[in-house]
Amino acid sequence: MINVALPKGRLGEKVYEMFARSGYECPELLEPNRKLIFTNEEKGISFFWVKPSDVSIYVERGSADIGVCGKDILLEYEPDVYEFLDLNIGKCKMMVAAKKEFYDFKDKTLRVATKFSNIAKKYYESKSRDIDIIKLNGSIEIAPILGLSDVIVDIVETGATLKENNLEVKEIIAPISARLIGNKASFKFKTKEIENIIKRLGELVKND
Ligand code: PRP
Repeated sequence: MINVALPKGRLGEKVYEMFARSGYECPELLEPNRKLIFTNEEKGISFFWVKPSDVSIYVERGSADIGVCGKDILLEYEPDVYEFLDLNIGKCKMMVAAKKEFYDFKDKTLRVATKFSNIAKKYYESKSRDIDIIKLNGSIEIAPILGLSDVIVDIVETGATLKENNLEVKEIIAPISARLIGNKASFKFKTKEIENIIKRLGELVKND
């Protein structure tokens, strides 16, 4: 049996669809109910829904053999897992954004509001820029508007949130998309089964 951690929400539904098209369907999963774990004994696969940012924790600790999470989570938490495959969905970018009129004169510490402290820290370290991180948990775009920060480091998908709040992209840090990840020990003991899943999902990505 292969245990799969799926990210709850729209991305997770797309990911499940990819598994189903690859021959790992579990129809019960799409029924409206509050169940969290779904098993297809015949296919040897079991899915469970978790918060997107928790997927890598389940996989790293082996409660899930494999899972799918955004590259943002991998960059932020650097879990000790294998990154098998770019699923080419859930695409967006990690960016630095600020008010249109903001210009970084680099003469004082830059105040950076973000959910992604590690990504921001590493990015500015690589540029030898002194920063003060203001860790927030959501609605990051409000921070520069209210003067809490100079810039934000956040995910931009359509750009609508920035636009509607008179902010603009200043720098691109990294492209983001959903990745298939795996527990290291599980891969040692369930190599064939996991390789099969990687192969089938990989064929779908290639053909899409
Ligand atoms: C994310 C991200 C941006 C927004 C970007 O927030 O943090 O706020 O989506 O999307 P867009 O470019 O398509 O407008 P999310 O909806 O996850 O909520 P959050 O404010 O709780 O982070």
